[in-house]
Amino acid sequence: MTDTATDTLSAEPIHRILTTSRDHAEYRDMFALDEATLLAGPVLDCAAGASDFALRARAVGATVVSVDPLYDSAPHQLSATVVDELERGTRRAAQVPDLYDFSWTGGLDAYLARRRHAAESFLDDYAENWSRPDGDPGHYVAAALPQLPFKDGSFALGLVPNLLFTYANLFDRAWHAASVREMLRVAPEVRIHPVTDTNGRPYGELALLLEELAADGIDSRLIDVDYRLHQGPSQTLVCRSARR
Ligand SMILES: C[S@@+](CC[C@H](N)C(=O)[O-])C[C@H]1O[C@@H](n2cnc3c(N)ncnc32)[C@H](O)[C@@H]1O
Repeated sequence: MTDTATDTLSAEPIHRILTTSRDHAEYRDMFALDEATLLAGPVLDCAAGASDFALRARAVGATVVSVDPLYDSAPHQLSATVVDELERGTRRAAQVPDLYDFSWTGGLDAYLARRRHAAESFLDDYAENWSRPDGDPGHYVAAALPQLPFKDGSFALGLVPNLLFTYANLFDRAWHAASVREMLRVAPEVRIHPVTDTNGRPYGELALLLEELAADGIDSRLIDVDYRLHQGPSQTLVCRSARR
């Protein structure tokens, strides 16, 4: 069969995790975040990548800590990585256009301009804040799921944007379960978006994962959200530890 849409919708999954820069407004939609929730207590953004969510949220009074293994890089190194990754993401979007839905933001070029703008703001903020000589870990912490360097209950809310489920081709169910448990160790509520992979396909082991988590006393529910990058409906997983 040589149907173009079918071919492009069968694109290879991405085999090396892409570092992207979704902006603050995208986060608000992905995670159904209102201002009261943002201001209710410290927020953990993991994996934060080159997003400007944290700095924009801090500008309205929120406390946000961003985590990504990339933050062990000095600003000039990270800047080069982010520029390369923007190009890699752009190539991918151009190769498989039928996979995506950018209609809500004026098409692909307008969307890429948003990502570039967010990445530039992030890089400026990172350059100012990445190193704290006084030992304070600051806004940007180099770490990787499923192990976080924070005390139990350090945050009011944990966000996991575009890592779990997105890279189901790279991480197994045990890794996903360990990552959700670790996020819930440091925050009573965790929101994870999306529940699909880089091709927009639903995570095949979601039911099994949620059963496993339920056996550990973790309540999970899927909520519909306005945000979408791929064609089709979009959901966010909300997990809470019922035993606290
Ligand atoms: C697709 S980007 C998401 C960036 C941003 N949150 C966004 O939505 O645009 C995924 C990020 O996950 C980071 N990452 C990779 N492995 C990780 C891990 N085990 N724990 C936390 N972050 C990880 C990568 O460095 C990358 O920046």
